[in-house]
Amino acid sequence: MKKRLLSGIQPSGIIHIGNYFGAIKQFVDMQDSYDSYIFIADFHAITTIQNRDILSKNILDVAMDYLACGLDPNKACLFKQSDLPEVTELAWYFNCLTSMPYLERATAYKDAGMKAKDVNVGLFDYPILMAADILIQDADVVPVGSDQQQHVEYARDTAIKFNNAFGETFKLPESLIIKEVAIVPGIDGRKMSKSYGNTIPLFGTDEEIRKAVMGIVTDSKAPSDIKDPNECNIFSIHKLFLTGNALESLKKRYTDGGLGYKESKDMLYEEIISFIKPMREKREYYQNNIDEVKKILRDGGAKAKLNIKNKMELIRNKVGVNL
Ligand code: TYM
Repeated sequence: MKKRLLSGIQPSGIIHIGNYFGAIKQFVDMQDSYDSYIFIADFHAITTIQNRDILSKNILDVAMDYLACGLDPNKACLFKQSDLPEVTELAWYFNCLTSMPYLERATAYKDAGMKAKDVNVGLFDYPILMAADILIQDADVVPVGSDQQQHVEYARDTAIKFNNAFGETFKLPESLIIKEVAIVPGIDGRKMSKSYGNTIPLFGTDEEIRKAVMGIVTDSKAPSDIKDPNECNIFSIHKLFLTGNALESLKKRYTDGGLGYKESKDMLYEEIISFIKPMREKREYYQNNIDEVKKILRDGGAKAKLNIKNKMELIRNKVGVNL
């Protein structure tokens, strides 16, 4: 029996290379060896996007991104969260076992709460909805970037709380985080994130990608200077695209001196463009066959829903709402 894998991405903006290397690449690499459930967290996105057209477009964009990156609907079940309204029902049962101070400790909430005093209840409750996503499917592993690790721990805690209150029901999921890509840096060296405006879009136009790459922040060393690659924001992104000899010889050019930041950026731009070329072509196919994308999501939604049917009955029985 294959272990079950589950993960998702919010359709809250354009996918960037941090999402790809931190998460999507793992989904693709693992789809053969795990019973995979990969979804689009559209309920989560409503915490920040309250515009019908933007949300619907973003949902389809993430679906196309998944497919273009190599997720195969015959191997992984691809669906959108809102096709499983049961997750909100389960989140409610969990809410009633969760204290406010416990949720106040969540870093995502603390970050948002710092910026805006009028944080919505959905955002506050975000980790509990995420716990429901994970636990409802009996997931064993949850591949994510390190910013989601705390949320997977919240899911484990919540499973324990429910099991203690109503009897053994949920298994405890594990996060799966790959060290080298746990925090993909953005063009300013901080974690790449939509909210920092420091992203390189995965499916941007040539121009958008060039602009992002040329905007990578560096120090003011001259081309002839010797440079420490480990202190260079350009090099840390090269590391995502280059391996073996190619990476070693670039490293040597840094430490020998003579490689200017402009040249390093030009090289990185070329690496990114050639890396995404086949994915772009695939994405273009789906862009022209959007009904196929919608059908993939519908079929995936039906499968994911069937999967949780018995579990939801069991949960309702345990809670006492099934008469
Ligand atoms: P989201 O949409 O913010 O991010 C999607 C995935 O991309 C990873 N990621 C990164 N990894 C490495 N370096 C970065 N700079 C970087 N930026 C983003 C994230 O860690 C994540 O894995 N709450 C989730 C969506 C969600 C979910 C779930 C995930 C909802 N329910 C259940 C797993 C299981 C989120 O907002 O991810």
